[in-house]
Amino acid sequence: NKAQAWSARFSEPVSDLVKRYTASVGFDQRMANFDIQGSLAHADMLASIGIISSDDKAAIEHGMAQILEEIASGQFTWLLDLEDVHLNIEKRLVELVGDAGKRLHTGRSRNDQVATDIRLWLRNEIDIATDLLRQLRRELAKLALQHNATILPGFTHLQVAQPVTFGHHLLAYAEMFGRDAERLADCRKRVNRLPLGAAALAGTSYPIDRERVAKTLGFDEVCRNSLDAVSDRDFAIEFCAAAALIMTHISRLSEELVLWMSPRVGFIDLADRFCTGSSIMPQKKNPDVPELARGKTGRVNGHLIALLTLMKGQPLAYNKDNQEDKEGLFDSADTIRDTLTIFVDMISGIKVKADAMRAAALQGFATATDLADYLVKKGVPFRDAHETVAHAVRHCEEKGCDLADLSLAELQAFHPSIGQDIFAVLTLEGSVAARKHIGGTAPERVKLEAQRVLDQTAG
Ligand code: ARG
Repeated sequence: NKAQAWSARFSEPVSDLVKRYTASVGFDQRMANFDIQGSLAHADMLASIGIISSDDKAAIEHGMAQILEEIASGQFTWLLDLEDVHLNIEKRLVELVGDAGKRLHTGRSRNDQVATDIRLWLRNEIDIATDLLRQLRRELAKLALQHNATILPGFTHLQVAQPVTFGHHLLAYAEMFGRDAERLADCRKRVNRLPLGAAALAGTSYPIDRERVAKTLGFDEVCRNSLDAVSDRDFAIEFCAAAALIMTHISRLSEELVLWMSPRVGFIDLADRFCTGSSIMPQKKNPDVPELARGKTGRVNGHLIALLTLMKGQPLAYNKDNQEDKEGLFDSADTIRDTLTIFVDMISGIKVKADAMRAAALQGFATATDLADYLVKKGVPFRDAHETVAHAVRHCEEKGCDLADLSLAELQAFHPSIGQDIFAVLTLEGSVAARKHIGGTAPERVKLEAQRVLDQTAG
């Protein structure tokens, strides 16, 4: 059992099953580049305070450069016996540069090392996801600008409520993804703190320069308590929460895409490259990508709960439980990365069927509220106006027509103050154009808002 770094203390080897059970190298090797980056910053600091010589530092740098190449080219042999990414790399370094490699771990523990690696890795993922959210908002805004005046029914309870513009509807999602980006930016502040220097839990007796390491690695701050530094995973939980909300928004959008693409609704068509056919029903074109995205939301929500549960019973400081933080975190980041990347492309390829949207908006008395508002402007109290319009709608339902199909005389039978000017109000265009305040659905407002998002997201 010589391979294990701590083997001298033990009288019998672990079984193969326990070895597999306790190892993390199968999944934590993806942090290798960040592990090496952290080690180089640590070695630089050790040399700066004279704990290792500048020759040792140079040897470590040389060895790490080779290891990076070996990993990149797939030549590096990852050994289960060496448990995790940290010990695998350290062992190879010692093979390559001897004693200098053995000095690297001075004043450091895998506990502060792994916490540093995860933060470096996650910071990079946050930056990638943030840029993808920017691109997605941009595609939504571009389509919104194109469809600032395209009208479709707005729904509440999935029943036709009031006409809205398709651009306005798309910009609702741009708002959601904008808040998601804000959340990532806020989470990033707490990710970007350096745990290294906490060592196993109590700090170290060497006169280390943590500020220097933080600066080298681009951390804004240094974790202020060694016990907290090695055991804090709040930052990962926050990221998983932000990822769950991103997927929640993606899932809502997906649900609408699926609905809009259903032949019964027929508001849009997705590009063929995001759909698949059926092996039995030749007529099918299924919106697989949005359906899968909606489905993958489940696992990302699950990872948040798993991490919260992982942390809730842990006493200070580091416990091996923490090794379980990675797979869910990695999967959350991978899932939002792939999903957002696909959605950027998919949104830009949406084919809008404006005629079908308009036809749907003309059904279901979408301008009933406008008629009520019209009466209010003529001096009728809103509750009375509401009642009057309800009668008119009922009449139309019996007659099988829309409010705009009634003659002036018929409308006046419901209220004498209705005049010829009502017909402009009852049109879909009149209805949306009237809502031109900030946050409203009017084409002129949508144009401004879309332009604002485009300005904000310019690359
Ligand atoms: N593989 C471990 C993890 O992911 C690294 C830290 C191990 N530390 C320890 N004392 N066993 O958390």
